[in-house]
Amino acid sequence: NAASKGTYEFYMLKEICEQPSVLRHLDQYYLDQNGDPKVDAKIINALSKADRLYIFAAGTSYHAGLIGKQLFEHLTKIPTEVGFASEAGYHFPMMSKHPFFIFLSQSGETADSRVVLQQAIKRGIPSLTLTNVPNSTLAREANYAMSLEAGPEIAVASTKAYTAQVAVQAIVAKALGEKIGIKDAADFELKKNFALAAEGIEQVISSQEKIERLAQKNIIPSRNAFYIGRGIDYPVALEAALKLKEVSYIQTEGFAAAELKHGTISLIEKGTPVIALINDSVTSDLMRGNIQEVIARGATVITIARKSLAKPADDIVLPEVNYYLSPLVSVVAAQLFAYYAAKDKGLDVDKPRNLAKSVTVE
Ligand code: G6P
Repeated sequence: NAASKGTYEFYMLKEICEQPSVLRHLDQYYLDQNGDPKVDAKIINALSKADRLYIFAAGTSYHAGLIGKQLFEHLTKIPTEVGFASEAGYHFPMMSKHPFFIFLSQSGETADSRVVLQQAIKRGIPSLTLTNVPNSTLAREANYAMSLEAGPEIAVASTKAYTAQVAVQAIVAKALGEKIGIKDAADFELKKNFALAAEGIEQVISSQEKIERLAQKNIIPSRNAFYIGRGIDYPVALEAALKLKEVSYIQTEGFAAAELKHGTISLIEKGTPVIALINDSVTSDLMRGNIQEVIARGATVITIARKSLAKPADDIVLPEVNYYLSPLVSVVAAQLFAYYAAKDKGLDVDKPRNLAKSVTVE
């Protein structure tokens, strides 16, 4: 039964551990033998008429949208904006001539996103919903819908729906990029990278005892924490921070690493945990510099680095996956830090206080 906890203590850990099978299922569901996307031609046709894509979402889905922006811009060269649905609904952003709206929603019921979709319908802007609940309101009311295929997500803190959102956006972006003749899309090896990411996630999960020890030693004793990253690691840092703070109640901020020195470094004290993500080759040397800056102020640094950029002293070494899909793997280390920080504090991991799985009020 997909919705039972089985031998897991909490749904959150079960859902974290399901992520490799979610990626393998998405491969089967959305890719053909050659690794080419099988996406409804009507959707790709409609998208190919857009001069700008607008992604709207809330919470973790918004963070998946920030990764989506980088995927869409790399694979389609169509400028892509990402907005909080809760803001766009009341302060409608300036539109290009031929906008196309993409809604990301695990539940498909988020009221804030429904408000934006109503605006889109009123203005005749075409829309696509990517959701884990195919018969949800956002799926039914948009022009087009695609299923995230992640299976029921029970824990309030979203994990596998995020990875599915990143993966499905990659599938749509590749299909669209190929349709409009973008070489980067033709060159993008989805099938291979989904397989690598699935194996990579398994490897991260197999180091969960080390992650738990690091959480106990360096994160749980602190009242606050930071995630830092640059390039694709910056939106991952935002999601990583949200995950840790929402379930462990340790106040955590995600930062574009270099921005710390523009102010927030004043919050670093002796023992403040700073978790650094290093997947971007362009800025990895700069990241090492940013790490030294916080160490000099007393921070306890945990490094999560991809193999080709890793140093012997790094704490978690991630296997190599295409840069644009590296969030699929790096986020899992962060999900596990959040899980163990909450569990080892004795908290109800699956039901953090004050939170609801789906928020149907504006
Ligand atoms: C709630 C949940 C979050 C979720 C957000 C968006 O606040 O607690 O985990 O990310 O809604 O939900 P959606 O279903 O639209 O992805």
